[in-house]
Amino acid sequence: MSYEHSARFYDLFGARDDGDFLAELAARCGGPALVAGAGTAREALVLADAGLEVVAFDASPAMLAVAAGKVAERKLARRVRLVRADARRFHFRRRFPLVVALNVFDHFVADGDAAAALRNVKGHLAPGGRAVLNANTPAWRPNVDPTEEARTPGNRRVTRRVKFAPTTRRNVYAVELWFDVFRRDQLVERHLEKSDARLFRPDELRRLAASAGLTVEDTYSNFAGTRFKAGDGRAVFIFK
Ligand SMILES: C[S@@+](CC[C@H](N)C(=O)[O-])C[C@H]1O[C@@H](n2cnc3c(N)ncnc32)[C@H](O)[C@@H]1O
Repeated sequence: MSYEHSARFYDLFGARDDGDFLAELAARCGGPALVAGAGTAREALVLADAGLEVVAFDASPAMLAVAAGKVAERKLARRVRLVRADARRFHFRRRFPLVVALNVFDHFVADGDAAAALRNVKGHLAPGGRAVLNANTPAWRPNVDPTEEARTPGNRRVTRRVKFAPTTRRNVYAVELWFDVFRRDQLVERHLEKSDARLFRPDELRRLAASAGLTVEDTYSNFAGTRFKAGDGRAVFIFK
């Protein structure tokens, strides 16, 4: 998914609950932090607010443009560096005590994508550092409201409809995001973003991480720190 049409709507939908978790990791690990698949700089801004210098990268120019606007508005350009890069093949000439890759592994659909990203995470992790990433597991069931509504900063009404469908590939499902923008009740824009998304068995990700040289410190099923147990639909891993 390029997020070309939907980047500007990204922050309007889907409440996130990872802020305190990230702030705690920032305090524990220190910086600089590397954020992979940084999107609209959501996590990067939390880490910068916690006092860390941040390098945040993403593959999508549209997402990076939104991120740049937020970083400029918050006057954080000296603390948050935004870079266009691919998580499967990025290379920065430094190592980071904290690496964050949230809500990105779903995008690693092709065989080898997740393994390549994990090797790069390991390659950029400073000795003693921690990496946090999450994934949906095969027990995951969509719990998003299929149609949500929000208001743009310009006070236009936007609806997002989400459709999930199985594909012929095991643990890969198709996602469609439909965005409708209304001006006074008139439909003025309609955008569709489509992609496949991948579910990971926790043991599969742990195995790939181990091959990359990472060890699991903890696995949670949410950002409130609940320990992961078999049958949970979300997994949050802390690797070292
Ligand atoms: C669901 S968004 C998550 C953004 C942000 N981490 C968050 O949680 O708000 C997924 C992001 O991953 C990015 N992405 C997908 N594949 C990528 C890749 N191979 N390399 C870098 N970024 C990627 C997308 O462009 C998008 O910004």
